[in-house]
Amino acid sequence: MSVTDRPDDSPGGQAARRRTFAIISHPDAGKSTLTESLALNAQAIDEAGHIHGKAGRSATVSDWMGMEKERGISISSASMQLQHRDVVLNLLDTPGHADFSEDTYRVLAAVDAAVMLIDAAKGLEPQTMKLFRVCRHRNIPIITVINKWDRPGKEALELIDEIREETGLTPTPVTWPVGIAGDFRGYVERGTGDLTLIRATPGGRQAAEEEHLDADQVDRVAQELPELAEALEESELLEASGADHDQDTFLAGISTPVFFAAAVRHLGVPRLLDALTELAPPPEPRPDVDGAPRQLDAPFSAFTFKIQSGMDAAHRDRLAFVRVCSGVFHRGMTVTSARTGRPFSMKYAHLAFGRTRDVVDVAYPGDVVGIVNASALRIGDTLFEAEPVVYPPLPRFAPEHFAVARPADMGRMKQFRRGVDQLEAEGVIQVLRSERRGTHVPVLAAVGPMQFEVVEHRLREEFRSPSKLEPLGHSLARATDTDSAEELAAMAGVEVLERSDGQLLALFRDRWHLLGIERTRKHLTLEALVAA
Ligand code: G4P
Repeated sequence: MSVTDRPDDSPGGQAARRRTFAIISHPDAGKSTLTESLALNAQAIDEAGHIHGKAGRSATVSDWMGMEKERGISISSASMQLQHRDVVLNLLDTPGHADFSEDTYRVLAAVDAAVMLIDAAKGLEPQTMKLFRVCRHRNIPIITVINKWDRPGKEALELIDEIREETGLTPTPVTWPVGIAGDFRGYVERGTGDLTLIRATPGGRQAAEEEHLDADQVDRVAQELPELAEALEESELLEASGADHDQDTFLAGISTPVFFAAAVRHLGVPRLLDALTELAPPPEPRPDVDGAPRQLDAPFSAFTFKIQSGMDAAHRDRLAFVRVCSGVFHRGMTVTSARTGRPFSMKYAHLAFGRTRDVVDVAYPGDVVGIVNASALRIGDTLFEAEPVVYPPLPRFAPEHFAVARPADMGRMKQFRRGVDQLEAEGVIQVLRSERRGTHVPVLAAVGPMQFEVVEHRLREEFRSPSKLEPLGHSLARATDTDSAEELAAMAGVEVLERSDGQLLALFRDRWHLLGIERTRKHLTLEALVAA
């Protein structure tokens, strides 16, 4: 739907102007750089916690957590709002490190599209593929960007083949580069034959200059640009192989439009902004827990996909990020929490998080709102006004690392407990308990070991309760039930614990240990959890 089709101020009309998306990539493919470049080339309405960057890089360093700085990785997710033409772009950041994939998964539950960013020299890397599978699982349409075209890399056609083979999606290049990787002269618009010549500005501080030539002007430069003939030839080859963009197959998750860029020099980024506004889908009515879609014009509803503490060291506060699904958000409105049935006041809401926070007064479907000190909210909670709704819970990933947690100083038990509860509510870690160990001795369960480091760091820094984590020898968990629990718990090397959502988990040493048990005791309930 074109933005101007519904210029009204109804939630549905405003939703039509919105594109909510995330960038998925392997670390170092250029996600932070592309984020910065998108912000530079669009009108940044708001930035959440500033744009994520690497340690030491001026102006982009997120200082929410000392750890993030020390390690130079992005641990926490935030969102940023941009405007391009008449479209509002909500860009949700995802942590790049595989250890935080659960967090990433939750962010992907809140987007309507994803940009899959690929390093032209490296092609599809493992973390990209992992995140791609999550998008596929959730039917999120994917726009592919081949980045670092200013640097020597693979051949364009080779990359297209790789995307097809690795992802099973039909790559449909919308632009085609003029010049090989390392010699980025511009790109052909495959649909129209128009040409964009690129002139980067020195140092890359500003948006690159682009010169647009209509198809009938292209001949004028063909003489001086032998690379153009080659690009046009390759583009024709692609056409013959059915690689032209098709909006329906893109939205259905069958094809992926492909663009070429060099984010560090802002090349191809303006084109990507156009693509996001033109191709990425606006928010749709979101299905509730029973599969019934909540109409965009229905009263306000939203769900919490991220809780973040300690973003501002000076304030030690806690922000819950909610994605608006229907209706209009007004600051100060009182809504109902579907989990508790209690009223919840949205008095302290911000559209921007981090060092500079702007108060948000109004937000529409697709927007992300940060609610300050929302201690009553948990990950996955639904909030609604007037007409009740419950959105599906956000799935927990299968943990592969387990550790018993204790306070280093028993005198700080209260702070320790509060800290563990808090970190669990934020989804930083899963917490398992059993009668055998005692409810005050939690077993922490993580998808990646770095989550433990975050827990230790935050218990020490925020809750003033240094902790001792003692790793357990398990590496695999299966969901079980009370009928099987007793028998499982009596087996050597198996431990059964209860997760806070009431799910019983049986822990095994490894795959072989589990296989042996499954072979001989077929009557036991042992179900796989969502794999990271
Ligand atoms: P990430 O968030 O996906 O982990 O990647 P990030 O943006 O931090 O980029 C990783 C490295 O790749 C950075 O270099 C960045 O400058 C570089 N890069 C990103 N996009 C492009 C591009 O289009 N072309 C080229 N040539 N390089 C690109 P670095 O050496 O790690 O950092 P820096 O010192 O250059 O800032």
